[in-house]
Amino acid sequence: MITTRIWRQLENIDWDFSEHLLGSSKAIHWYPGTFPSEVPGTLIQALSAQDDLIFDPYGGIGTTALESLRQGRRAWLVEGNPVGCIISYVSAGLLLLKSVDPSLPAILVASLRSIIESNKNDNLTVQLRIKEDNVGKDIDNILAKLIQPTPKQLYNAFSCEPNWESLAKWVEPQTLINLRKLHYSIKTTPLGNFGKLAGLVMTSAILRPASSQTQSWGHIADNVLPKSFESKDIYKLCNNWLSRTQNIIVKTQVTSSPGNEKRFWLSLHSWQKRKLPKIKPSIEVNVLLTSPPYAGAIDYTLAQRLSLYLLGHSEDNVKTLCSMEIGARRKRFLPASQANWVSDMVHALSQQVTYLSSNASLAFVLPHKDAGREAGPVGIEAYLRSIDCSKLMEVERSIRQGRARQSWTSIKKEIIQIYGF
Ligand SMILES: C[S@@+](CC[C@H](N)C(=O)[O-])C[C@H]1O[C@@H](n2cnc3c(N)ncnc32)[C@H](O)[C@@H]1O
Repeated sequence: MITTRIWRQLENIDWDFSEHLLGSSKAIHWYPGTFPSEVPGTLIQALSAQDDLIFDPYGGIGTTALESLRQGRRAWLVEGNPVGCIISYVSAGLLLLKSVDPSLPAILVASLRSIIESNKNDNLTVQLRIKEDNVGKDIDNILAKLIQPTPKQLYNAFSCEPNWESLAKWVEPQTLINLRKLHYSIKTTPLGNFGKLAGLVMTSAILRPASSQTQSWGHIADNVLPKSFESKDIYKLCNNWLSRTQNIIVKTQVTSSPGNEKRFWLSLHSWQKRKLPKIKPSIEVNVLLTSPPYAGAIDYTLAQRLSLYLLGHSEDNVKTLCSMEIGARRKRFLPASQANWVSDMVHALSQQVTYLSSNASLAFVLPHKDAGREAGPVGIEAYLRSIDCSKLMEVERSIRQGRARQSWTSIKKEIIQIYGF
């Protein structure tokens, strides 16, 4: 329910967010096309109350979910890209751990650092703080109460042998040997399942700079192999990632959580499949808040191809995942690509609204009409009108080039639409 006070508040916001709001969340892994956390953060504050359930059906790396948890809401994220899923799981887990016991994320970071140091010095007798204290198991037990799936379930699903053969086309041979050793250490040391997932995210995050194709992620998405190999210091890259992650955890202000009830649900699911997501909360959604993929703008799957190889995906798997991506850039020359984008989004929306409570609010971040994709917002509005859900407000935001989401396309402006029943 949007009161006049909330309405005025929303109308007076500078949606460009040229200033970073203190205490909001930041990403621990690169991913194209994410929105600044200030966008969902502001909408969540205005449209929901403590403990409400916020649903992002195109969750990406979890910007909406993190802001929801940070502000004491519950979050449900659905995402078709396994890399997005694992990143949001680890980010959300670190935030929830902080909300229960602020010392735990730092212990995890310190343990990962000691694995890196022992690999760097070829010293396999790692002195893990986590081993001494059995903290790895404690962390898993804490998170098993707060998150579905549990760390054990998710680690079992994601811990496949990497596709080293495909990675060898991108990474210099000795750098790849070091990566393999590090991967094996993370897998076999007593970090606990969540710690191992955090280690996978760390390795995944450094793959792009560790590869010899350093021009841009677009080159990786377009399968432009490196012309020559270059050796990279993966230990330095990992240590930098750990420092950055530690800094993010310290700076993100989070509301403390009860610690004994589910706060976060994650579904690896494509809306292009006939079936509905397997994992879902047993409570109704209060706010649907999302930024669906923009037609022909980005290949989310292909951009993360190196990380998908790390998660054990074959070339064929990568192709299949890409074919399930709504609005993927590589589909832009297909006949009726924009019409397909709209109908895919509207079909998915017809499934997504079935999880909403009768007085839920919906907020979408969509391309502005100047970006030549007006059919998307128009299709969403028409569908929602047909189920008696009306548009309450629409604001514009421009995308700052400094941290542009879509600066490689013609998209420089977006709209934010808010709907209610
Ligand atoms: C604009 S991005 C969302 C980014 C997110 N707001 C964030 O900040 O991380 C759109 C997301 O939709 C996902 N997606 C595309 N097609 C999908 C499908 N069929 N099912 C589920 N997710 C899909 C993409 O993988 C991408 O992560």
